[in-house]
Amino acid sequence: MNTGKVDVLLGLQWGDEGKGKIVDVLTPKYDVVARFQGGPNAGHTLEFEGKKYVLRSIPSGIFQGGKVNIIGNGVVLAPDLFMNEAKELEKSGHPLKERLHISRKAHLIMPTHRVLDRAYEAAKGKDKVGTTGKGIGPTYTDKISRNGLRVGDILDHFEEKYAAHKARHMQMLANLGWTDFSGFEEVENTWMEGVEYMKQFHIVDSEHEINNLLKSGKSILCEGAQGTMLDVDFGSYPFVTSSNTICAGACTGLGIGPNRVGNVYGIMKAYCTRVGAGPFPTELFDDTGKKIRDLGHEYGAVTGRERRCGWVDLVQLRYSVMINGVTELIMMKSDVLDDFDTIKACVAYRLPNGDTTTELPYELEGVEPIYRELPGWKADMTAFTDEAQFPKAFKDYIKFVEDFLETPIKIISLGPDRDQTVVRQ
Ligand code: GDP
Ligand code: IMO
Ligand code: MG
Repeated sequence: MNTGKVDVLLGLQWGDEGKGKIVDVLTPKYDVVARFQGGPNAGHTLEFEGKKYVLRSIPSGIFQGGKVNIIGNGVVLAPDLFMNEAKELEKSGHPLKERLHISRKAHLIMPTHRVLDRAYEAAKGKDKVGTTGKGIGPTYTDKISRNGLRVGDILDHFEEKYAAHKARHMQMLANLGWTDFSGFEEVENTWMEGVEYMKQFHIVDSEHEINNLLKSGKSILCEGAQGTMLDVDFGSYPFVTSSNTICAGACTGLGIGPNRVGNVYGIMKAYCTRVGAGPFPTELFDDTGKKIRDLGHEYGAVTGRERRCGWVDLVQLRYSVMINGVTELIMMKSDVLDDFDTIKACVAYRLPNGDTTTELPYELEGVEPIYRELPGWKADMTAFTDEAQFPKAFKDYIKFVEDFLETPIKIISLGPDRDQTVVRQ
């Protein structure tokens, strides 16, 4: 933690690395937690005191009192989903009206954006991205094409603005030949209810707020959603999300100068997963992949979809470390590999033309991973609390990853619970 700086925590793979858990673990050290991009496509899981929570639009610092949680301008927000999420949290005894501030400049996901998401996916046919269906792409498209509706709009002549945007979307859907509007009216009613509900929260100019907080010496943690390989510029395009998930996204998504960024925490799983379509060089289609999926409970937190599983890809991770300027690594879910005789790590790719490379190529489709095999540690580490307890083979694995990525691993997570976390000295 650096005074006058924000620290950024983000995923280095294809999402679901365990960001929610670690933000929750780190929250006691910070005064403010801020989300800077993405929306309800995210599903961030937290477990503590025997309970499990999944957050989608609300920052993962929300469970700890005395903190400010900010939804920044870079986030896209669906009022109906936000309302459901917030009400659930309030019901479970976590008050948020005082703790949560929402940027006026965050864009709204309209019900028609979700229909457009479905329609575009259908139009892509076999090339579909496998989106979460939450309207993320169409909402960011409207933002960039200067057609968006923002949170600040709900406070002024909203009905008219909404109707104009809806009419435009309906025209687009007609052009696509889309006719399935089942349940639309009900969704729209809940959405409008969500808009009214949102008015009870602090709707703020979050760029001013965050910079004033920084000036007054408050510490800020920025919570990324998705992962670097889903970044719209640097990910496995076009199989990506529609925002900048990388560290630079924290600057544009909150209004922070690049010189204000302090630590960059990069989160990785000890293996790798992906949900949705697109290339995944180290994907396993055999029993080993299935074993990882079963032991890691690799099913989507938002959609329940099966996550594709594979070995850790150090070529891909080195790229992510570079793009984000990662200063510290956090390794998640190594407990899932506790029972493996050998562990593999991809250290180079063989390209379709036969060449090998250790740099992430433009096209990931068709590359073959070249592996280094390391001995497994064969020990149940889920109750370990100190790195001194780690078996030698695990220490060797950590050292190998650190050397390859030229970045220290500072935190190791050994289970889903807040307490199953080892901070290294
Ligand atoms: P996020 O989107 O990056 O916040 O990650 P998700 O919540 O989508 O997925 C991570 C999953 O792994 C959740 O079910 C977590 O409860 C779980 N998890 C987090 N850390 C660990 C860990 O160290 N070991 C195990 N076994 N599970 C973990
Ligand atoms: P968290 O924050 C994993 C994937 C989708 C799809 C692609 C585009 O929990 O790590 P979108 O709905 O964003 O247009 O879908 O991105 N995707 C995620 N995968 N974790 C996420 O979030 C994701 N958010 C989007 O599966 O392949
Ligand atoms: Mg997730």
